[in-house]
Amino acid sequence: MKLGELVKNPKGFKITGIYRISRFEVKTARNGKAYGDCLISDHSFEVPAKYWDIPTERVALFQKNGVLRIDATLDYFKDSPQLTIESVFLPLPAEVDQSLSSLGMMAPRPIDDMYVELKSIIANVGHEGLRKLLTGIFVDDRQFAEKFKRHPGAVKNHHAYIGGLLEHTLEVAVGALDYCKRNDKIKRDILLAAALVHDIGKVREIEVDMLGMGIGFTREGKLLRHISLGLEMLESACQSVGLEAEISLMLKHCILSHHGQAEWGSPVEPMFLEAELLHYLDNLSAKTEQFYREAERAEPGGFNKSATLRREIYRPGWE
Ligand SMILES: [Fe+2]
Ligand SMILES: [Fe+2]
Repeated sequence: MKLGELVKNPKGFKITGIYRISRFEVKTARNGKAYGDCLISDHSFEVPAKYWDIPTERVALFQKNGVLRIDATLDYFKDSPQLTIESVFLPLPAEVDQSLSSLGMMAPRPIDDMYVELKSIIANVGHEGLRKLLTGIFVDDRQFAEKFKRHPGAVKNHHAYIGGLLEHTLEVAVGALDYCKRNDKIKRDILLAAALVHDIGKVREIEVDMLGMGIGFTREGKLLRHISLGLEMLESACQSVGLEAEISLMLKHCILSHHGQAEWGSPVEPMFLEAELLHYLDNLSAKTEQFYREAERAEPGGFNKSATLRREIYRPGWE
């Protein structure tokens, strides 16, 4: 059961399922006994849960695992749902993967399929220098490629699940390819390369938990953010393949300007067509995922007050 559906049920309702443990602490109750104070979550909701008189061996289970099978009873505290955990079990690895997708914590499309598509897009880049650059970053650098494939697109904002960064990057790149088909004035290879590298800095900006979900920013992520980190990564990749100066300069500008304006984190506004298009395509992918997810949290025909989009989002009653 999705946690957002809990509130439809009365106090005493029994729930069983595999959930993410997004916070866990051992505390001492008034009777002097230890209890587990946790937050369990799926993609859309977080619910506080208490595990009274927690056995010692169960504490280790919570500390070592990001996902557990939980049996709990529903209660309400000041009208908000709260769970009392009866027991927890370690799920099988296959159950974990299946649950991550059903809880919306994994990109809907298999990561390996998306990676194959990314490699075929790179193989079709006409400009040899750019193709070399992209192959160097996304294929030859195994360590980066493995991280990039599973990385979330954000902690909360959009594509905030395992494989979200790859999914978002592909959406921007495929959007760019489609748009170029209708307009031959666009420098296709520049736009495509810019689409693929625009968020590479997120791999160093976002800190992930043992499952691969974003839990906050790394130290360098907080201090430098993904635009500066991406610029640094691109700079060294351009140098190692000896990319011509003008193309490297254009790509760097695309990374710097992709958020569009200073208040959204870009130190410069887009100053040529491909940079401007990248900004719109990036926004288009982000907004599509945000609207879809925020509407999902409402009932059909109802509204959800979205903190991310700073407005109420309507879920059409017609589906
Ligand atoms: Fe970005
Ligand atoms: Fe992006």
